[in-house]
Amino acid sequence: MTPVIEARSLARDYTASRGAFRAPATVKALAGVSFALEAGRTLAVVGESGSGKSTLARLLTLIEKPTAGALMIDGEDVALASASTLKRLRQEIQIVFQNPYGSLNPRQTIGKALEEPLLVNTAMSAAERKAAALAIMEKVGLRPEFYHRYPHMFSGGQRQRIAIARAIVLRPKILVLDEPVSALDVSIRAQVLNLLAGLQEEFQLAYVFVSHDLSVVRHIADDVMVIYLGHAVEMGSRDAIFEDPQHPYTRALLSATPVAVPGAKRERILLTGEPPSPLSPPPGCPFNPRCPLAFERCRIEEPPIERKHGRDAACWAVEA
Ligand SMILES: Nc1ncnc2c1ncn2[C@@H]1O[C@H](COP(=O)(O)OP(=O)(O)OP(=O)(O)O)[C@@H](O)[C@H]1O
Ligand code: SF4
Ligand SMILES: [Mg+2]
Repeated sequence: MTPVIEARSLARDYTASRGAFRAPATVKALAGVSFALEAGRTLAVVGESGSGKSTLARLLTLIEKPTAGALMIDGEDVALASASTLKRLRQEIQIVFQNPYGSLNPRQTIGKALEEPLLVNTAMSAAERKAAALAIMEKVGLRPEFYHRYPHMFSGGQRQRIAIARAIVLRPKILVLDEPVSALDVSIRAQVLNLLAGLQEEFQLAYVFVSHDLSVVRHIADDVMVIYLGHAVEMGSRDAIFEDPQHPYTRALLSATPVAVPGAKRERILLTGEPPSPLSPPPGCPFNPRCPLAFERCRIEEPPIERKHGRDAACWAVEA
């Protein structure tokens, strides 16, 4: 199957001011990330705070342009697309943020919020838009009487349902979900995850699911990408990553989360030190200052991400 979305060495730099007397610095928020995702599948992106997850989400959803690399959506190279193709591609890929309150207009009723994308992007009549809004509300489990209500009248879980409804009202092929359940209570979290699973099945949606919560990732992912300091350090099937992690960073991340099998033990690896700043990344392997296995080469030469042990890994210590 051809992928609905493909990233090729996507990179993004930011310029950060360092005060009046110093030259601005370059922040390598994303240092070249590649993946391909097919319809109906979920790629989870995991990593610590500041690793570049939201930066990747913004590039994939065309909110920002990459500094380098290429992005293909539905087989079209975004950088080469005409204005009309770009308009279509923007409809194909939608984003859901962690905090839906920030993305909903407080003065707009739920009905209007759902109809707005249809008004801007389709030739539907007012009656058709209303019918479509009510239909999508039913899909995400919102009662029809909510149509006239405002965002502040809803709970966090309901607001996230509204945000999901708005994201899928144009029937996109891809959803980028940036920590979509991280702000929700545990009981509500499962409901929203089940909703997302049902919608994926029904519409064959491809999900890029950004999360720092490995128990959620284990539950929903087909494939997992682990990122560290803007670099993909390990990527593979959920089972490869969770049952047999190879990269020392993945192992450290997983060792900090409870094991699924009762009674099973996992060696606990402590991640010492803060993640280094992308303002001054270390030479060699980006993980070397915190890596328990680091040796001479790691401090000099950056390991490429390569197929090893049935997944992709960027580590000199992982045998081919
Ligand atoms: N507009 C910007 N200008 C300068 N630096 C930025 C900008 N946006 C992000 N960064 C920096 O890029 C790096 C990656 O940020 P990003 O928000 O992608 O991380 P994240 O993985 O989403 O983190 P979190 O888990 O906290 O949401 C961070 O060091 C951040 O400070
Ligand atoms: S390349 Fe070296 S420093 Fe980097 S993760 Fe592997 S062993 Fe650790
Ligand atoms: Mg983020």
